[in-house]
Amino acid sequence: MKFFIDSGNLREIESLVPLGIIDGVTTNPSLMAKEPGDPRALIKQICRTVLGPVSAEVVATDAAGMIAEGRELAKIDEHVVVKVPFTKAGVTACRTLSNEGIRVNVTLIFSPTQALLAAKVGAAYVSPFVGRLDDIASDGMGLVRQIVEIFDQFEYTTEVLVASVRSPMHIVEAARMGADVCTCPVAVIEACFKHPLTDLGLEKFLKDWEKAQAARA
Ligand code: E4P
Repeated sequence: MKFFIDSGNLREIESLVPLGIIDGVTTNPSLMAKEPGDPRALIKQICRTVLGPVSAEVVATDAAGMIAEGRELAKIDEHVVVKVPFTKAGVTACRTLSNEGIRVNVTLIFSPTQALLAAKVGAAYVSPFVGRLDDIASDGMGLVRQIVEIFDQFEYTTEVLVASVRSPMHIVEAARMGADVCTCPVAVIEACFKHPLTDLGLEKFLKDWEKAQAARA
C-alpha cells in the first residue's frame, strides 16, 4: 500500500520524505488556504520534494472551468494529479482531462456508486473520505471495503485512495482491505512510530550494553 501525506505544508512533507516511506501527497483547498505564498509555487516545491503524485484541487465548480483549471495545474509539474470533486461537472471534467492523459483524483467520495462512476470516466484515483463518514456515525471503512470489492470485479486501473484518515487503525484496515493508497495527516504517520514497548525495549538494550561496557573497563 502506498502512503501519501495529506498536507500542503512543505516543512511537514520535508520532515517525512527522507524516511523513504512517502509515495505522494494530497492537498485540498482547505489545506492550501493555511499556507502563505503562491499556491502554484508551493505545489511545484511539493512535487520536487516528493517526486511522486501530488493532488492539487480545482476550485471551479463548472465543467469548463474545472477543465481549464485542471490543464493549468497539470502544467505546473509532471507529478501533479488534478483533483476534482464528485459532481456532474467533476465527472465531465474527469473524462476530458483523463482522455488528454492528465491524471485525475475524484474526491469527496461518500458512496460506492460515486466511486464506480468516477472509475468509468477514467479517474486515476477515487478518494473515499472515511473519517468524515465515521464522524456522522456511518461506516467509513465499510465504504472502502465495498469499493475495493467492486473494482476487483472489473479491469479498472483506478486506485482506491483512502482519505480523511484520523488514526493508525484506518491505516491498518485500509491495508487489510487491499486499498491502493492511504493519505494521512502527519500526526497519524507520527503516531505509527510510537510504541511504548519499542521505547522500553530500546532503553533496556542500551542500559544492558552500557553496564557490560562499564564492567569490562
Ligand atoms: C484528501 O484528499 C482529503 O482532502 C483529506 O483527507 C480530507 O480530510 P479531512 O476530512 O480530515 O479534512
